[in-house]
Amino acid sequence: MTKIAVLPCDGAGKEVVPEAIKVLRAAGANFEFEEFEVNADQYLRTGEPIPAAVWPQLLLADSILFGAVGDPRVNDAAYLAGVLLRLRFELDLYVNLRPARLYDDRLSPLRREDRRKIDLLIVRENTEGLYVGMGGRFKRGTDQEVAIQEDLNTALGVSRIVEYAFGVAHREVVMVDKSNAMTYAGALWQERWKAIAEKHPNIKTRHLYVDAAAMQLVRDPTQFEVIVTGNLFGDVLSDLTAELIGGMGIAPSANINPESKRGLFEPVHGTAPDIAGRALVNPIGAILSASMMVRHLGHSDMADAIEGAVKSAIRAGDCTRDLGGSLSTHEVGDAVSKRLRD
Ligand code: NAI
Ligand code: MG
Repeated sequence: MTKIAVLPCDGAGKEVVPEAIKVLRAAGANFEFEEFEVNADQYLRTGEPIPAAVWPQLLLADSILFGAVGDPRVNDAAYLAGVLLRLRFELDLYVNLRPARLYDDRLSPLRREDRRKIDLLIVRENTEGLYVGMGGRFKRGTDQEVAIQEDLNTALGVSRIVEYAFGVAHREVVMVDKSNAMTYAGALWQERWKAIAEKHPNIKTRHLYVDAAAMQLVRDPTQFEVIVTGNLFGDVLSDLTAELIGGMGIAPSANINPESKRGLFEPVHGTAPDIAGRALVNPIGAILSASMMVRHLGHSDMADAIEGAVKSAIRAGDCTRDLGGSLSTHEVGDAVSKRLRD
């Protein structure tokens, strides 16, 4: 049986993951779910972000369903790195997919109607770039302090993410970088991208600097199908695209390795400490992440059904307050589940 390791983690994560599981069950998913205690309480008690006994279990799972990590009581950087970045790096989940699809017109902040047919995919490099934690601080705490954060880019890493983007695009791949200012890494991205584009003559290609891409995403997001970019720019632009479709509560993501088939699926949002614990958090981002998980596991009919049920719930106003509704977190899970059973 398909084994799903469940890591709800902290705050909002703990509230949204059970709703995603509820919806998977309603959709008929016959998976074995096993939950593991990876969270701030555990970390504060033991000092281990992921307990040594849990790690091998995560390697045995077919996929990981993840909530969010973060807690005001802990040093975010070390904890986040020890949980989420460790999983991304050590499982080599080099593809981060962050789709943005508008399910209902009223959720778009854009004034012009013709700019609202948003259905784009950010393909973010997930294992390199500025997030690898290389660098250091010299003369720390003095007025002469030097801080260096290395931007790591490898030919293999750049090639495989660009190849992946061409593999999923039907129409066009837009490559986003800052090669006019970050010239060494930028040159590697440019060379790899051009060489790979030549192998895909049926897919159009376009290049944008990241600042221009941010501007174009707000001006007219309908022009984009697939955007491929590095770790940092993908992180930043995907918060922007989340806001174009209704906000952080609705945006899903997948972290995958297409060769090993391993995957970790999580909403884009964090632990939302400002609203967590009061049944206000929107579970749709987590539910749509679960739908990306079943699609990755080969059940595309089930994924289509979940997305259809989400769309129907949103259009009927069966949603949390961030989307203009008045339902609680678990009532939204129920509203989506009911549509799958009917
Ligand atoms: P956040 O995503 O938790 O919250 C940003 C804003 O979006 C807040 O106003 C929040 O109320 C709202 N929001 C987030 N999720 C929502 C949901 N499901 N429904 C409705 N509204 C929602 O980001 P923030 O505040 O920057 O970080 C909070 C904590 O989460 C920090 O500890 C941070 O390190 C961690 N974090 C973890 C991530 C992860 O596990 N992948 C990603 C981002 C942040
Ligand atoms: Mg982010």
